[in-house]
Amino acid sequence: KEDLPTTVVVFGASGDLAKKKTFPALFHLYQRGLLPKRVRIVGYARTRLSPEDFHKRATSFLGPEAASKDVEGFLRLCVYVSGQYDVPDDFRALRKEIENQDTAINPEGRSERVRVYYMALPPSVFLDVATQIKGCVYDDGCTNRIVIEKPFGHDLESSRQLSNDIGALFSEHEVFRIDHYLGKEMVKNILTLRFANVFYEAVWSHHYISNVQITFKEPFGTEGRGGYVDEFGIIRDVMQNHLLQVLSIVAMRQPESLRSEDIRDRKTEVLRRILPIQLEDTLLGQYVGTRGGGGKPGYKDDDTVPAGSTTATYAQCVLHVDNDRWRGVPWVMKAGKALDEAKMTIRIQFKDMPNALFPNLARNELVIQVSPKESVYIKTIVKEPGLSTNLAMSELDLSYHKRYQDIKIPDAYATLILDVLNGDHSNFVRSDELDEAWRIFTPLLHQIEKEQVVPLPYEYGSRGPKGVDEFASERAGYKLSAR
Ligand code: BG6
Repeated sequence: KEDLPTTVVVFGASGDLAKKKTFPALFHLYQRGLLPKRVRIVGYARTRLSPEDFHKRATSFLGPEAASKDVEGFLRLCVYVSGQYDVPDDFRALRKEIENQDTAINPEGRSERVRVYYMALPPSVFLDVATQIKGCVYDDGCTNRIVIEKPFGHDLESSRQLSNDIGALFSEHEVFRIDHYLGKEMVKNILTLRFANVFYEAVWSHHYISNVQITFKEPFGTEGRGGYVDEFGIIRDVMQNHLLQVLSIVAMRQPESLRSEDIRDRKTEVLRRILPIQLEDTLLGQYVGTRGGGGKPGYKDDDTVPAGSTTATYAQCVLHVDNDRWRGVPWVMKAGKALDEAKMTIRIQFKDMPNALFPNLARNELVIQVSPKESVYIKTIVKEPGLSTNLAMSELDLSYHKRYQDIKIPDAYATLILDVLNGDHSNFVRSDELDEAWRIFTPLLHQIEKEQVVPLPYEYGSRGPKGVDEFASERAGYKLSAR
């Protein structure tokens, strides 16, 4: 862990992301003694707030159960500067505040210092702020780290444009693109599972694996975020980034080392082999309301959604990785809002057992449950216990809540911010990865928009549009497993 004098500037400090994720994560690290010893957090946003009002607001971000002693200690590290996002004088004032704080944490004037610029900002102001940072705040005597959040463009062209614009201001090494799924415990675990155990790698190919399903389900709809959801749709919102990132870690070759560039090289290598997704390999849905007591509104009932919208809130896509290891294995991504449950799983389904000694009761599956309850289990055939010789489907089960009862799994943002503080890029998206991710999805997205493909309706709270299971079994040879 580096222990250099560090300033973390949070842009958008009074906004939603800062409230829900950035500040709670910084506080979590503070409570565990994981922030650098000499650190200051500078909030920056347009809202004019006195220091007291900012502290009050920040306290509300930390949740009611935060111990007041910890909150006080944390707030002593936090200051606030208000300003516009495109006014150089405001950024010069910010620089002055950063320098003031520097004298407090770096009295001996050490030249090695770290500055983190965390952009908890909407894309509309993002480039303005980056430009002002570079013009008025940036100090090339420091180690500078710029943290940015999706959306990174809305297709290949706009994403490249953004990468070029950012690239003109900062070097790739200074940029940390957050995909918060890369900070989730079970996603971080994939690399360990695969490469620290002898038995997975031996079966990790088309020889033994029939198909892979990566599923994201949320039980709520737009909930006031209709504008954003409609502009991006489920494919851009979670598939092109979160699910594809997960796929690349499941599919990649073993990296040369655990160095971040080696890991990112391997992920990019696999993304390069994914063929652009075809419309015929895609199923789209949009939720409709339910009637009766406790009835839920449909997508288009939300006032923030444009009338007549054909944006998908559910999608299933079949992808193919065109390399020797994976040729012939369908990768199914499923993602939807307003479904029957909250769940994210990676389900690796193996082929049928080739011998005829026992009937093929069901296929083996390795399931990594990312949320809600972190677990890894292997669906395994056993002899039914007792005098019977029948077969039964059971599970070799590692449920984290049972096995690691004393460990509270941190929010993804806490681990990612810690990585930024340590200068570790492993769990951040490199620009060439991002480019590949858009290459895979852009033709499909453009075709959907051009042809105005109408999504199939499904009821709020259901499992998705009619035919979701048939689609996966027909396209991907997925066999429903016996319980
Ligand atoms: C975000 C999406 O990136 O991920 C949201 O924009 C989605 O629409 C969220 O709800 C899901 O994240 P998590 O961590 O709650 O699974």
